[in-house]
Amino acid sequence: MLNLPICAGPEKKSDMTIAPKSLLSKKPAAAAIPIRILSKSQYKAGKAPLSSAQKKWIRAAGFDGEKHQTVAYPDEKGNKAGVLFGIGDAESLDVWSAAKLAEGLEAGRYRLDTKLGSKGTSDFLLGWCFAQYRFDGYKKERSEKVRILEVPENFNATRVRMIVDGVFLIRDLVNTPANDMGPSALAAAAKSLAKEFKANVTVTAGDQLLKDNFPAIHAVGRAAADAPRLIDLRWGNAKAPKVTLVGKGVCFDSGGLDIKSASGMRIMKKDMGGAAQALGLARMIMALKLPVRLRVLIPAVENSIAGNAYRPGDIIKTRKGLSVEITNTDAEGRLVLADALTLADEENPDLLLDFATLTGAARVALGGDLPALFTDDDVLAEKLLISGRDESDPMWRLPLWPDYEDDLKSPVADLLNAAENSFAGSITAALFLRNFVEQTKNWAHFDLYAWNQKNRPGRPQGGEAMTVRAVLHYLQAAFQ
Ligand code: BES
Ligand code: ZN
Ligand code: ZN
Repeated sequence: MLNLPICAGPEKKSDMTIAPKSLLSKKPAAAAIPIRILSKSQYKAGKAPLSSAQKKWIRAAGFDGEKHQTVAYPDEKGNKAGVLFGIGDAESLDVWSAAKLAEGLEAGRYRLDTKLGSKGTSDFLLGWCFAQYRFDGYKKERSEKVRILEVPENFNATRVRMIVDGVFLIRDLVNTPANDMGPSALAAAAKSLAKEFKANVTVTAGDQLLKDNFPAIHAVGRAAADAPRLIDLRWGNAKAPKVTLVGKGVCFDSGGLDIKSASGMRIMKKDMGGAAQALGLARMIMALKLPVRLRVLIPAVENSIAGNAYRPGDIIKTRKGLSVEITNTDAEGRLVLADALTLADEENPDLLLDFATLTGAARVALGGDLPALFTDDDVLAEKLLISGRDESDPMWRLPLWPDYEDDLKSPVADLLNAAENSFAGSITAALFLRNFVEQTKNWAHFDLYAWNQKNRPGRPQGGEAMTVRAVLHYLQAAFQ
């Protein structure tokens, strides 16, 4: 199989984006500019140690502690002496406010001059880093602007650093175009992650998928020049609780023979966003050495068009033995996930989570920012929702409504891959997946967008991590 990069992408992975570790510094330096976070009332009460000249300067600049106001003020020599950042009537500042602050600052070295507590400091550092992500490895001119933050004394930033590494990995994987992030490149990314953390990884590719009984992955991916494959990564103590992550790795979704429109296809390089979440979360879990036995399963395919493409009306086999009649070749994600979930379920893990850019319907229901969570386990759902709220990484639960299972009945096979009507499309997709999870008690499915449609502080347009910070929070509480 010839798999040469067609475009002049970045030579090295390290050329791709800014290294997160360059954004936070442990070493205090005298020249670091102090940043003070103030609510309106704190500003009014004179809680900032300023000279009267500085107070005048700040007033003249129109600063009064209003939310997201930033003012840099000078010392008596005219050099920059400090920065004030307003949070309005809020009591603390969240991740995205911190990102807003960082984004507005000039390049340089800063330190936090306000005690924010452990959670507040963590959120501040996260926002600081998220704001400075850039994906400009393909450009001739790259931004060199970096704002470095000194990590406050007595704050252990390890968790923050590991989260940022994971989030940047997810963004990079999603943003890298399909000509450089096909199934083989996605497998290479998984292998390089495995190498870094001494994990084991096996990849089953091409016709070997048929021999090893992954017929649905093969059917969806066989028309592509870059062969379909199943990536299986394992890490950790075999005796520890088994956590398995499954990620939809459709490296490009043309729709197949049921071809998408031009606008529908435009950002389908991101259809491996679920796989990216699984790998980014795996990175966090391994870097933080969570006491779990981790397994990551990624069916990596391109949903392409050729003479050997699977067709509407075809009846395909699955690993589980259920036959599926294809109503629409654009409902490919659930097919590749079916085989991966079956494999995951065979060892009855303690927790099984799958991540997928599965349906447009979930986006119609909840928009791009709010992933849909599906699970039959009310306790797990509640904990995940609370984690999402706490971590500014929200999700919204939708039901696995049993009556809608009728819509997946086929006259000639065990299942349809997609309902013939367009009602409740994300629910019927989740119900389809549930057929392949039999033994595992704790299963949750995330239908997510993995993409920011517009630029916002800390959330640049393009690939995005969604649900993984919430899940990490849940895992740390559940297993540590
Ligand atoms: N990858 C898409 C889902 C998608 C589309 C996610 C746009 C985010 C934005 C998926 O493979 C797909 O095309 N699903 C179809 C299913 C339909 C044919 C039953 C959809 O949602 O339209
Ligand atoms: Zn599709
Ligand atoms: Zn898809």
